[in-house]
Amino acid sequence: CGIVGYSGTQSAAPILLNGLKRLEYRGYDSAGLALVSPEGIRVEKCEGKVVNLVNQLGEFDKIPSLGGATAGIAHTRWATHGPPTTVNAHPHAARPAGEEGNRVTLVHNGIIENYKALKARLEADGRVFVSETDTEVLAHLVDSFYEGDLVKAVTTALNQVEGTFGIACVAIDEPGVLVVARRGSPIVIGLGEDETLVASDAAAILRYTRQVIYLDDNDVARIEGPKVDICSLDAMPVTRESTQIDWSDDAAEKGGYAHYMLKEIFEQPDSIWNTIRGRMDSDRGNSVLSGLNVQPRDLAELHRVLLIGCGTSLNAGLVGEYAIEDFAGIPAEVEQAAEFRYRNPIVGSKDLVLAISQSGETADTLAAVREAVDKGALVAGLVNVVGSTIARETGRGIYLHAGPEISVASTKAFTSQVSCLLMIALKFARAARMSRERGVRFVKEIEAIPDQVREVLKQNDHIAEIAENYIKAESAFYIGRGYMYPVALEGALKIKEISYIHAEAFHAAELKHGSIALLTEELPIIALVPDGPGKDKTLSNVAECRARGSKVLLVATEGDDEVNDYGDDIIRIPAAPLHAAVIPATVALQLFAYHVARLRGCPIDQPRNLAKSVTVE
Ligand code: G6P
Repeated sequence: CGIVGYSGTQSAAPILLNGLKRLEYRGYDSAGLALVSPEGIRVEKCEGKVVNLVNQLGEFDKIPSLGGATAGIAHTRWATHGPPTTVNAHPHAARPAGEEGNRVTLVHNGIIENYKALKARLEADGRVFVSETDTEVLAHLVDSFYEGDLVKAVTTALNQVEGTFGIACVAIDEPGVLVVARRGSPIVIGLGEDETLVASDAAAILRYTRQVIYLDDNDVARIEGPKVDICSLDAMPVTRESTQIDWSDDAAEKGGYAHYMLKEIFEQPDSIWNTIRGRMDSDRGNSVLSGLNVQPRDLAELHRVLLIGCGTSLNAGLVGEYAIEDFAGIPAEVEQAAEFRYRNPIVGSKDLVLAISQSGETADTLAAVREAVDKGALVAGLVNVVGSTIARETGRGIYLHAGPEISVASTKAFTSQVSCLLMIALKFARAARMSRERGVRFVKEIEAIPDQVREVLKQNDHIAEIAENYIKAESAFYIGRGYMYPVALEGALKIKEISYIHAEAFHAAELKHGSIALLTEELPIIALVPDGPGKDKTLSNVAECRARGSKVLLVATEGDDEVNDYGDDIIRIPAAPLHAAVIPATVALQLFAYHVARLRGCPIDQPRNLAKSVTVE
């Protein structure tokens, strides 16, 4: 899941371990590293956290083969093939049949789809495998072509591979040389004075350099100290421009909060503002989204807007669907990215596909983007990570500017995605029937959101107290209608992700069509009832639940006393039209989930089984 590599003049071990620690937020279940020195390639790996690896290495400065190594590769693994054991952890080393030691050693993100066939061939040559991973097969494949030129061996091997990879590779006869390559899984190269770093995520190397090169699919790079040579898989030299990363290192630290998630929840007034800043024209009552590059005349011809994403980004997409239909009158549909890809969707040049992704690397979303591009649709990205694959392959879109999101459970990316989608709805609406006057009000409604979020954050202590009443629940239902339905989905997802309480979200009306059978006194209801269309009907559904003994937590509008008799607990949000109230209401449920998880003693920033960005299908 996380790759780090180093070649230079310093001791590689501490740099690699630091890098791995910076990638911990992505979620992983084992870790390892390989250090190359004139004495050979030393591989160390372990189950669990990076700290286990540090302990295992002991005082590495005093051990010549560790302290003396000035090149190496390291990895945190999130299991795909084979359980998260030490043997299955990366790096994986290979050597010819009958020999011993580590000749070619590599770390890998992604999946080698044809690994079984390759393995059978290599086994027939007498090669012995110790793990169940596809990565070890790749190591042996590279080794089988190795004759002292690692780039050549890697390119030959990768030409036989089906699937996705980001890899970093070292070989015994070329100490100081790293070879990295990518297809479908990101690799960034950090340029230093007399050293080069590589990583799957820039956060790992920001401490050492800010000047980076992003590899494109099918690029292979040979790195030796400060020297970087990039070629294509058919061995043709290619040039990639370097860029300067302006995220401060501090921005990726916890900044005094107990968890990244809490820090990111509290950052939202600023992160939302960063998303909308400079993109609103209050005089013309419009939004300015130049990166989207969709002109009013394109819109006039548009048949449909499709919104695709996964997880939290999918929930944001549903808000977009409602807002685009509501205000712009353009048919809009949200669809799971994986489903979109595999069901041969009807989509063409009159459709706009909005791909929504925090990381810009999610495999399912990326595959859907490629499908939409192949079908000739207009494809735009709503992406947070600059330079990510989806951002580059869509070629047009809107960066969220939410800053790095470290917590596995997404918070500020969601509120920035929704902010972007509201701006898109405004732009499309203004190109259609929305008046300038309504547009001016719409701009104000969006610009009011950061302050409304501040009001919710002020209730943090109150929400923490309320959370105590729900920590024993084994299951919870979230209900809402209209714009509050996606909020219910996102609230339920948050509590599942970090507190491990089973939760389901329903459209409030749908609850009675079956699932109500599950209600007991032990199953709390979290109901979204801010003032606006649908509130009264949802309150009736709440009454049905209360009649069956359920405890009820309401999210309601400040000063709305009508709801008082319906809830055991109430979190208040400022009065706002519902399309805007989505954001403060979601923030309330983020805090609720956070405190429930904290009180239950859960590892909030790294929930079990989850990864920050899932680059496998
Ligand atoms: C993973 C994460 C989710 C996230 C989803 C989509 O499953 O655990 O939190 O919402 O991927 O990620 P993306 O980066 O595409 O928004």
